[in-house]
Amino acid sequence: MEQFFVRGGVPLRGEIRVGGSKNASLAILPACLLVRGKTRLLNVPDIQDTHTMAAVLRHTGAHVQFVGPETVEVDATHFQRAEAPEELVRRMRASFYVLGPMLARLGTARVAQPGGCDIGARPVDFHIRGLQALGADLRSEGGIVTGHTRGLRGGEIYFDFPSAGATTHVMTAAAMADGITTIGNAAMEPEVVDVANFLNGVGARIRGAGTPTVVIEGVSELATDTEYSVIPDRMEAGTHACAAAITQGTVVLQNVIANHLQPVLVKLQEMGVQVTPLSADGDHPISIRIAAPERTQCADILAMPHPGFPTDMQQPLVALLTVSRGVALVTDRVFENRFRYVTELCHMGADIQVSGRTAVVRGVDHLSGATVTATDLRAGAALVVAALAAQGETAILGVEHVDRGYSKLAEKLQRVGARIQRMDPESPARYLRAV
Ligand code: EPZ
Repeated sequence: MEQFFVRGGVPLRGEIRVGGSKNASLAILPACLLVRGKTRLLNVPDIQDTHTMAAVLRHTGAHVQFVGPETVEVDATHFQRAEAPEELVRRMRASFYVLGPMLARLGTARVAQPGGCDIGARPVDFHIRGLQALGADLRSEGGIVTGHTRGLRGGEIYFDFPSAGATTHVMTAAAMADGITTIGNAAMEPEVVDVANFLNGVGARIRGAGTPTVVIEGVSELATDTEYSVIPDRMEAGTHACAAAITQGTVVLQNVIANHLQPVLVKLQEMGVQVTPLSADGDHPISIRIAAPERTQCADILAMPHPGFPTDMQQPLVALLTVSRGVALVTDRVFENRFRYVTELCHMGADIQVSGRTAVVRGVDHLSGATVTATDLRAGAALVVAALAAQGETAILGVEHVDRGYSKLAEKLQRVGARIQRMDPESPARYLRAV
């Protein structure tokens, strides 16, 4: 199992280009199944999860090709197999998003129910209820969801919790339903807005994305041979910002939409980090300079649905808090079990107590290198951030989790001075010569 091997203590200096959004891509790729032809997507990150999603779409009969480093072409002309491979859905929850397009275009579907993961139970009841409100007859038996419909029709949906996945999933299915659909208490994440913008770009009629109420007027056909560029990944940008801050470095992040990252940038400024947008445009990709102080001041974090602080940035920022000055309270109101990674940070000398959805982080003078294991994507990112500042060497196992959501993370950090390397456990000597 590959590992990251990190020797901390180098202030990061230079420029990092942020890739396209994993979470927007994982919702837009299945939405391409609604188009009876070709769609070209730009700025799709070359990560494990987008390749897994490509495999799911191919299984349904669609053709999916990575025609460039971050360009994907989907041709859903021959989308006719209304089932998703159980193994892939279990591996990646977002595979479940093909259920809606199958019902919309094929009138039937058979998709495994995604399991929980390291951050919580993550049921799909909102997805199911939302699609049922559109006229789908859905049953769940033995972990498999089967569905039929004589044609989706517009409906009224109100989510108990503003679920990002359920909002994009139902919005996508409703795009070709017969009639008007209203989603109440909709998620407002930038990735949700990106899916709406993509769908409107192929002829859907969606209003209100980014607000609590989204209205979708169904259409019968969507345009083929269009091109869409996915938004930059705000979580990757935030992770690199934390890496710059914890190493007391200065890094320019390229390809960042400032307004998408505002809750994180404001929090970093509160902690004493200098955040300097190199252009005044908050709505389009720009570069942002992140310059860290000697030692950051701690700040409390309340992870909430957007526009609150994003739960996916809770872990990398807690890594930064472990060596900030003072004591911080970190609460995650989105996922009930998203602090399991804290054990690994404590192996590195962090002082964190967890109680339910809240962690108390007491800043320490420094972390020490150790052998630690990533349990999920963002936990892995947190361990990389921590290792970059730790005294001595850190081996991070479970790199496959990081590869799910970060493209070329080690290479990008190496280019700004980090001593991080993928290590083949069979030949550590080779690595040590390289550093
Ligand atoms: C998306 O997950 C993201 N994943 C997550 O990113 C992100 O953390 C999350 O949104 C919140 O922003 C993708 O987009 C692929 P939710 P999603 O539905 O849609 C509960 C990462 O690291 N819920 O907004 O699954 C759920 O249990 C990943 O990139 C139900 O109860 O999240 C959670 O407590 C991790 N029933 C809360 O809602 C449902 O049917 C928010 O979940 C759906 C969700």
